[in-house]
Amino acid sequence: ATRLVRVDPEHPDPAVLREAGETIRRGGLVAFPTETVYGLGADALSDRAVRRIFEAKGRPSDNPLIVHVASVEGAMSVAHPDPRGRWHALASRFWPGPLTLVLPRRDNVSKLVTAGLDTVAVRMPRHPVALGLIKAAGVPIAAPSANRSGRPSPVEASHVMDDLDGRVEWVLDGGPTGVGVESTVLDLSGDPPVVLRPGGIGVEALREALTRVDVLSLEAPPPGPVRSPGLKYRHYAPRAPVVVMEGPSEWVARRVQERIEQMQAGGRPVRLGLFFTDETLELLRSLRVLPRPGVWVVSAGPRDDLAEVARRLFGALRELDCQRPALILAEAVANRGVGLAINNRLRRAAAGRVDRPFAQP
Ligand code: TXA
Ligand code: MG
Repeated sequence: ATRLVRVDPEHPDPAVLREAGETIRRGGLVAFPTETVYGLGADALSDRAVRRIFEAKGRPSDNPLIVHVASVEGAMSVAHPDPRGRWHALASRFWPGPLTLVLPRRDNVSKLVTAGLDTVAVRMPRHPVALGLIKAAGVPIAAPSANRSGRPSPVEASHVMDDLDGRVEWVLDGGPTGVGVESTVLDLSGDPPVVLRPGGIGVEALREALTRVDVLSLEAPPPGPVRSPGLKYRHYAPRAPVVVMEGPSEWVARRVQERIEQMQAGGRPVRLGLFFTDETLELLRSLRVLPRPGVWVVSAGPRDDLAEVARRLFGALRELDCQRPALILAEAVANRGVGLAINNRLRRAAAGRVDRPFAQP
């Protein structure tokens, strides 16, 4: 059975960390909070332990994992510096924190972690429980997000339990995570550096540290070999189909009204989930479209507070899904800072289904 243990997020009990670290060292699985999302951890140096991560998640074995370390020395124990030597400046500026660096791998890392690639993704998280667990384990910890493959990433221990109860030894409950979306994955193995996955660190911040950063197209992956295997799978998805709405509040509100009328045609019951900003929700209320039976609403927060939208995103998708709606509509946000990650996750949850006005104003 899974042991669910509450820990203080700022000052976790060393005795608990010692025991959980021992479980990792013996090849077990421990789910733990990071500042982004909960991770599902195992000894990154052990094939047997890492295989269990893939089994517990139902994850395709060609999708590599991130190795979590507690220091720069820890990072260099699993990776080599990139050919241009940029990693150190990035690590000094952004670690501990939500930035993952893809670097040439060392041989000690389990081949299952890197899915046969010659690179390894490394990150030093800033959450005290994550750092404490890595130190207590005394080995680097391979950890994908602690959800069943394809589901929204967990931002609370209850999400982890919903997906993985009985499949892991421990879940350390450190409360809600702070950032709410995963780390930014930056590939330093080539030139220029490429953002493979937008995340908690904005591209603008990376561009202050590097002269040039490319961003892998988020609309359509380029042809040829896949640089980040994770990109080819449907992901972050509730069971209900999701549609992303991209446009001003006024347009979104009118479209929602139209969609509800369509759904109601013939007197059918409406079962709709909405993840919208406060501004759009207010408009829908003033238009008397809301409240309405069969329409469930989770607020994304204020349109301009992207950090808050990010924090609410995955919890909202799970919460709406519990109502078993026929459809979930989610509002896109500005493509700046963490907004890029929010829009990327929404689009992937929607498997590309986007509704937008023909002529952008
Ligand atoms: O915030 C996070 O990054 C969370 C927490 C737990 O740290 N972890 C996380 O892991 O999101 P996961 O496994 O859900 O996503 C890892 C991403 C995938 O898109 C994977 O394809 C990519 O990183 N990745 C891992 N190793 C890679 C490599 N060597 N080259 C390219 N992409 C890699
Ligand atoms: Mg994931």
